[in-house]
Amino acid sequence: MVRHWLCIVAVALAAGAVAPAAQRPQGAALLAQPEAMSIGIYYYPEQWPRTQWKRDLDNIAKLGFDFTHFAEFAWTFMEPDEGRFEFAWLDEAIDLADKAGLRVILGTPSAAPPSWMGARYPEVYRVDEHGRRHEHGIRAEVSLANPRYVAFVDRVVTKLAERYGRDRRVWGWQIDNEPGTFADHSDSAREAFRAWLRGRYGDIERMNAAWGGSFWSTRYRSFEEVLIPNAALATEDKLSPHALVDFSRFQADTTAAFLDRQAALLKRYARDGQWVTTNYTNVTTATDPRRTRGLDFPTFTLYPVAGANVLGGESYAIGNPTRLMEAAAYYRPIAGTFGIMELQPGQVNWGPVNPQPMPGAVGMWIWHAYASGASLLSSYRYRHPVRGSEMYHEGIVGTDGVTLSRTGREFVEAMAAVRAVSRRLKPGAALPHRLAARRTGFLWSHDVFWDLEHQPQTTEWKTWSHRNTYTQAVKSTGAPMDFVAEGDDFSGYPFLVAPAYQMVDDALAAKWRQYVEGGGHLILTCRSGQKNALGHFHEGPWAQPILDLIGADIVEFDMLPAGTDARVEAGGVSYSWHRWADILAPRTGTATLATYADRYYAGRAAATTRALGRGSVTMIGVWTDDGRFERELVRGVYRRAGVAIEDLPAGVFLEWRDGAYVAVNYSPSPVRLDVPAGAEILRGSQPLAPAGVLIWSAGER
Ligand code: GAL
Repeated sequence: MVRHWLCIVAVALAAGAVAPAAQRPQGAALLAQPEAMSIGIYYYPEQWPRTQWKRDLDNIAKLGFDFTHFAEFAWTFMEPDEGRFEFAWLDEAIDLADKAGLRVILGTPSAAPPSWMGARYPEVYRVDEHGRRHEHGIRAEVSLANPRYVAFVDRVVTKLAERYGRDRRVWGWQIDNEPGTFADHSDSAREAFRAWLRGRYGDIERMNAAWGGSFWSTRYRSFEEVLIPNAALATEDKLSPHALVDFSRFQADTTAAFLDRQAALLKRYARDGQWVTTNYTNVTTATDPRRTRGLDFPTFTLYPVAGANVLGGESYAIGNPTRLMEAAAYYRPIAGTFGIMELQPGQVNWGPVNPQPMPGAVGMWIWHAYASGASLLSSYRYRHPVRGSEMYHEGIVGTDGVTLSRTGREFVEAMAAVRAVSRRLKPGAALPHRLAARRTGFLWSHDVFWDLEHQPQTTEWKTWSHRNTYTQAVKSTGAPMDFVAEGDDFSGYPFLVAPAYQMVDDALAAKWRQYVEGGGHLILTCRSGQKNALGHFHEGPWAQPILDLIGADIVEFDMLPAGTDARVEAGGVSYSWHRWADILAPRTGTATLATYADRYYAGRAAATTRALGRGSVTMIGVWTDDGRFERELVRGVYRRAGVAIEDLPAGVFLEWRDGAYVAVNYSPSPVRLDVPAGAEILRGSQPLAPAGVLIWSAGER
């Protein structure tokens, strides 16, 4: 980590003077925008005849958009031949946008290199886990570890920054596109991985010890011999999980360094007020956004309707309910604000099936983004393409380039409504006590995620969906929720949930204890505390560092084939499980909340709770099949702490911003909400329909 920091600092220094963080405004202040949430739209001038640019940009402004977004895939037009740059077309597009009254976000084009690059320097291409070289004709086909490609990126980004870094019409920058999405097994990646390992371990024997190299003769004599662990080639036997996690870390560091390097180049020329971000793929686990230091705030991409049907009925057309809820909770704390850089405008082209969003859904997402604290929201894209890879992807306007699509119309209406309502609200209003009392931190670590994914132990284990079970349980209470990291201060969160937090060392256990003794309520779930930071089991009792904290021993754990009938009971209700069960033995002073109902561990504890200092620790050792059990147990923690909670069904979310409560409904059924008498309804009506929005202001409620 120290070395990673040094690398970043070195790149930043090499790229020139970057104002120290303290001197630059942060988060929402950096956007310096008149709107509570600026709303914009992607436009690709290079994809349309020049004669249409003015018409399109004027129309975008007339529809009420605040900004447009140019050039993220336009490298072939910026540098049509190696070293020959052409920006006149972009000058003209920026000028037209400005004259129309639109601010401009510029993309750096690194995700879409021109054909000459690979034709002349094939080493720039990425190689996938099956040894297949990716080539021109798609995007992101390059190796972020290849020095030649990185040098080309440096040059084009520098040219852009020199030209537009001091341009008042350019509001900010988006680096690359959905960075770090693919694994890279190229020669360049292997060389860089070796260098990264040398930096991390210094000595090959330290790495051998960390990777378990005494097992199966897998040890190496030098870093030069190390190969990228390739899970795609390991079928029956398994690779070292420690090597796999290190490769995940390496890839995340490579992406972070790639972004930070571009950010440093841009900031060398950026005028005061220009900001730099990237558009991460929702809550990405292919890379780790918290490893990046050079961005002013994060943004992410959001496509809720793409074929999945999480809540049944017609909810597939309202969207995956956890996407925006979790991404906002994940990104918001990183810099105090966030943006959604791409919001689905209508039907997309890349899902397994691509249904139309239900009438109302697009507007509901916009309200949900606003209520979750977004400062910036952009839809992808203005025009429906008439050719190319994404020609089945809808835009705000249809194939004629001027007529609003059905969802485009909804988008524009919701945009106007957000503007009107947000003007009536009170920015900076303090969070009501009732909500502050249930603020919840959700502890998340990419290392833990990778470790679980690389060593699941049962194909039924899905780390992502385990997380979703708990985010939904927390949000059923109406709690404001932030994802937090181990290094963060937990004290602002009366409740802290750490699901399947597998890697725990003594320092983290001590930090949790201090948090609980000071009055915090900690919820741990199955698979917690088994491993140390290297991913090794603790040499001692199972999950040793957490046992004193939870006030229980973990006798053993079990998992069953899908379809097996196994039950756990809590509060007189029986629930089925098969994915994971920690069998607990509570110590004196620890209460049992749930017990296994069958098998040789019938009657043994499946969930426990205990008071500790001024707080409590609850251990939920079993993962049930439909999440109702977890919902009940999590809600019980808030109740026992004497905190008032809502009772929101799955897919119904309640957020608060600037003095207003905003409820949205991703579920297939109408819902009646507990709106206090005397509240002023600002939008919507009861019951809250599927894909509906209900907004009220209610003072201190
Ligand atoms: C995103 C991507 C965009 C566009 C979009 C289409 O994942 O970042 O460039 O391809 O999908 O839905």
